[in-house]
Amino acid sequence: MRRGSVVQLVAIGAVFGAGAAAVALLIPWLPHGASEQAGRIDFVFWFVTAISIAIFALVAAVIIYSVFHFRAQPGEDEDGPPIHGHTGLEIVWTAIPAALVTAISIVSAVVLAKNEHIPHASAATDPLKPLVVDVTAQQFAWSFKYPAFGDLTSATLKLPVDVTAKLRITSLDVNHSFWVPEFGQKLDAVPGSVNDLPVTPDREGVFPVICTELCGLGHALMRSRAEVMPRDRFVAWAKGQKQKLAGPPSKSGKGVFSANGCASCHTFKAAGATAKVGPDLDKLPQEAQKAGKPLEQFIRESIVNPNAYVEPGFPKGLMPATFASLPKPQLDALVAFLAGSKK
Ligand code: CUA
Repeated sequence: MRRGSVVQLVAIGAVFGAGAAAVALLIPWLPHGASEQAGRIDFVFWFVTAISIAIFALVAAVIIYSVFHFRAQPGEDEDGPPIHGHTGLEIVWTAIPAALVTAISIVSAVVLAKNEHIPHASAATDPLKPLVVDVTAQQFAWSFKYPAFGDLTSATLKLPVDVTAKLRITSLDVNHSFWVPEFGQKLDAVPGSVNDLPVTPDREGVFPVICTELCGLGHALMRSRAEVMPRDRFVAWAKGQKQKLAGPPSKSGKGVFSANGCASCHTFKAAGATAKVGPDLDKLPQEAQKAGKPLEQFIRESIVNPNAYVEPGFPKGLMPATFASLPKPQLDALVAFLAGSKK
């Protein structure tokens, strides 16, 4: 092979490699990761991408070079010289891809094993090793319970930075799927089974929690937030909330409304809620009239026993019956808030 040919091949390869690298690097294809697991997934992604760019540059260089150098001259119509394989070349183009595919398999297997690893629980001594969070999906809201902090429950996922959390994900009704793009992983929420997802956030911030399995009318609105905060602040929050639970329960109906995810299905002006999955709660007085019941009694029944009266146009069983378990003071506050008699 002439030296000039090698220089040409390398030059063409460099141009195509640089072009592909620019497309890979200059466009933000992936969200900026916020967990150790996402960091490892990014590593696999870039490892495979780098190999792909190198192969693309090589193939492009050979094709472009061949198109110009080996094209038929005008008037040339005989067959090319007969070639019966080239053992050396065949060994090379079998061995290199085999080595690359093996390398990708090993890197992927190591990352999978690391990403699925959950440190052994030592909850008796330290509730943050790992921090267990029960994640429950339900049409159309998420709830997060912290068994190590007196079953403290929150409508947003709060996590301490640099601590491995073991999310125990399940569903009360249909299949949902838990996804925080910045954490890099998704896991299905399946009724009747608990799926464990380890997450070790390595960056503070607020990230979206998204349901990524079509689960019904309110699927698109089934969102929450994941807040990653310093360890101290998390512990202070958890302890503070625990004390609040032990003390007199929240008397704010608006607080109960937002803590229970009512806003993901209903419209209610006083709470700034605009969802349209369930009935418009600003029209409760008219509905109570239609049902022929006093307003407060109608609201209470609709929460505790949602199928007793279903507004025309909405399917039976859409509203979860689980709110019947709200503690009485919270239920009272919520009824008063919805009836418009108290903020
Ligand atoms: Cu829950 Cu989609």
